[in-house]
Amino acid sequence: MSISEKIQRVGIIGAGQMGAGIAEVCARAHVDVLVFEQTRELAAAGRARILRSLDRGVSSGKITEREREQAAWRLRFTSDLGDFADRQLVVEAVVESEDVKTAIFSELDKVVTDPDAVLASNTSSIPIMKIAVATNNPERVVGMHFFNPVPVLPLVELVTTLKTSEAVSARAEAFAGEVLGKQVVRSADRSGFVVNALLVPYLLSAIRMVESGFATKEDVDKAMVLGCAHPMGPLALTDLVGLDTVKSIADSMYAEFKEPLYSAPPLLMRMVEAGLLGKKTGAGFYQYNR
Ligand code: NAI
Repeated sequence: MSISEKIQRVGIIGAGQMGAGIAEVCARAHVDVLVFEQTRELAAAGRARILRSLDRGVSSGKITEREREQAAWRLRFTSDLGDFADRQLVVEAVVESEDVKTAIFSELDKVVTDPDAVLASNTSSIPIMKIAVATNNPERVVGMHFFNPVPVLPLVELVTTLKTSEAVSARAEAFAGEVLGKQVVRSADRSGFVVNALLVPYLLSAIRMVESGFATKEDVDKAMVLGCAHPMGPLALTDLVGLDTVKSIADSMYAEFKEPLYSAPPLLMRMVEAGLLGKKTGAGFYQYNR
């Protein structure tokens, strides 16, 4: 692929909250999208998640019925990473685990044939270099960190490592900005990047407040919505992000900086162990209809 060639074939790994959202915005931007999920059942759940979101787009007037049909038509699913050979950009959005991500990048690097392809991780907090060194071509690896819900939030953090090539980072930035219409900010390759390095200590502090009886979860959320004009409070936001993901981000940031404020409070750990992961499982700090 020449540097100026437009990216038209994208692969997304994982169709959870984030993978589904990234796949949707790519399909809506007229790009051919191939989505990897581990099993047929997870792929079916991922497809249903994307179709529900496209339906919401139609009912809210953001997209037309025809755009919904065309976006759905551009989405294909596979459980074989080998099918990613012809992809020009791959965005990995699997569970926030260094082991899982490095295993995927090691295989992906062998599969994707284009030497100029962009291999991106949507990790929230794992330093991209740790993922890049699992490949034989770390110059192809960048962080492209989207925000939840992806069709709504306009930001992408672009994270380059000491080894990312300038051509690869330029191509990733052009895709996010010009094709997907996102706003891009660049961050150094430090755990948490810009947004989570600021946001996660705040979420953890709110959980500690509730845990210690300082204030109720409802009052903590109400205080930040009404007192600071935040669109939602920190406990509701933790539910939206996913408690397992918030814990994994905290663990990565603590491992990097050894800052006590980044350590996961026991209440968060117990809730993750109990499977109370937030909106995606129907219960976290609050209950949800799924
Ligand atoms: P999720 O729990 O909704 O989805 C996890 C995905 O990982 C699913 O597709 C699942 O099938 C896959 N997966 C789990 N174990 C796997 C394995 N062993 N091998 C291959 N695939 C596996 O999580 P979510 O929220 O979509 O997060 C995914 C990534 O996006 C994480 O790296 C997270 O840090 C990042 N992220 C999350 C945000 C959020 O607000 N939830 C925001 C920005 C980034």
